[in-house]
Amino acid sequence: MGRPALLLFLLPLLAPLAAPALSPQLRALGRPHLKASTTFRPAVTNAYKIRYFQQKVDHFGFSNAQTFKQRFLIADKHWKENGGSILFYTGNEGDIIWFCNNTGFMWDVAEEMKAMLVFAEHRYYGESLPFGEDSLKDSKHLNFLTSEQALADYAELIIHLKRTIPGAENQPVIAIGGSYGGVLAAWFRMKYPHIVVGALASSAPIWHIEDLTPCGLFMKIVTKDFKISGPKCSESVQRSWGAINRLSNIGSGLPWLTKALHLCTPLTYNDIQHLKNWISETWVNLAMVNYPYASNFLKPLPAWPLKVVCRYLKNPNVSDRALLHNLYQALNVYHNYSGGETCMDISETIANLGTWSWAYQSCTEIILPFCTDGVEDMFEPHTWDWKKYSDECYSQWGVRPRPSWITTMYGGRNISSHTNIVFSNGELDPWSGGGVTKDITDTLVAITIPQGAHHLDLRANTIFDPAPLMLARSLEIRHMKQWIADFYGNSGGQL
Ligand SMILES: *[C@@H]1O[C@H](CO)[C@@H](O)[C@H](O)[C@H]1NC(C)=O
Ligand SMILES: *[C@@H]1O[C@H](CO)[C@@H](O)[C@H](O)[C@H]1NC(C)=O
Ligand SMILES: *[C@@H]1O[C@H](CO)[C@@H](O)[C@H](O)[C@H]1NC(C)=O
Repeated sequence: MGRPALLLFLLPLLAPLAAPALSPQLRALGRPHLKASTTFRPAVTNAYKIRYFQQKVDHFGFSNAQTFKQRFLIADKHWKENGGSILFYTGNEGDIIWFCNNTGFMWDVAEEMKAMLVFAEHRYYGESLPFGEDSLKDSKHLNFLTSEQALADYAELIIHLKRTIPGAENQPVIAIGGSYGGVLAAWFRMKYPHIVVGALASSAPIWHIEDLTPCGLFMKIVTKDFKISGPKCSESVQRSWGAINRLSNIGSGLPWLTKALHLCTPLTYNDIQHLKNWISETWVNLAMVNYPYASNFLKPLPAWPLKVVCRYLKNPNVSDRALLHNLYQALNVYHNYSGGETCMDISETIANLGTWSWAYQSCTEIILPFCTDGVEDMFEPHTWDWKKYSDECYSQWGVRPRPSWITTMYGGRNISSHTNIVFSNGELDPWSGGGVTKDITDTLVAITIPQGAHHLDLRANTIFDPAPLMLARSLEIRHMKQWIADFYGNSGGQL
């Protein structure tokens, strides 16, 4: 199964959460070794049960009686029948165990909220495949991959759990998610307010659609992250594209690039755009996971990985070859921090993410416009070409996107009639550009985390957490406790 050709501007992936994996990286940095047991709660591993629930393939029509098994995880160690709650992770575009492993926040607050934790897998990802191996075969099988069907799965699952778990029926449920999962958490509260009392939507770019957000903002934020991570860093990246282009036009250039960048397969002229997309994606991913401590999410990385990257990108005014040698070192920070890679694979995908299913969603409902101008950002200029995008989707899947459906369905910027949603965003996160970063009403509130990358707040507590992060989490907890207290009919303080 190949990757769609229109990669970069189709898919900087909405990426989920990262688990800290400290020791090897810290040792590499020459910092003292920290015992995992004192730093992190190892609670997550195997502390949940894996369950399956029979879902309808099509919630919105009556002629299709097919069903499939949706996977979900459940953990009830801290759950109390008396005065408890249910925290429900609205799964996004990948393996639910991966999200569960990496959503330490829910595990950290479970006891305080007397909460049962449920992690529901999104249909067409992980094991939750409506048509088994055939699920991703063509647009006919992918027809039931929509956010509406996924939210309906979550609603059915919660109703089922409340019916079948004694003591759960009269408890408040809170939706929680990060990235696309955060978008789903917010939409879930909007569409099913009788099922969830509130939602924590972390790094949820609900407005990165249509023309609600300028298409260039995302890459501008990526560029800003590079600018603040080292002198001349973004300038070096900016100059690198020309260097690649010049080398690809001379006879010895392609083999030189293959060798200098340690690529797995010899570069041909036709791969150059793909190479540049892969490099751009690397910078985007780094901006998303630029966390204050060593982590292992998309890749094992040091603390503040962009600072490490920028150490190699200090001098834009060197020869093309010298610049690209430095670029290789910088790429190595992301792709080979463990030191175990023998070559750079520019066709690599992130294993736990359902790249193919996401590509389909990006060609139907979830259209995320991206563009660059090469002036206010460090990338080569690309306009957002709606028609070209649609044509490429059509040639890939035989379907065309419906660009305005999501705003019709979920309200776009006009969402003030809803209540009880916390939108949190890290200031460093490129997705914050399409997120809600200002309060809309008293109960649709925005929390901004200075120095925060992509859904940093949903990660497990660590001893490295900066004060603004801890403050953000405590505000989130306060809102969640308030929703629970309101549900139980008192004005707070009960929990
Ligand atoms: C989740 O964590 C467990 C324990 O660390 C690990 O064995 C497993 O591979 C992880 N699964 C995913 C999908 O990340
Ligand atoms: C990865 O790092 C190791 C150790 O520094 C190095 O020997 C190897 O060549 C690197 N791999 C690539 C693809 O650069
Ligand atoms: C949302 O509100 C704006 C004005 O605030 C209006 O121009 C727009 O048409 C509204 N959109 C929808 C989908 O109602």
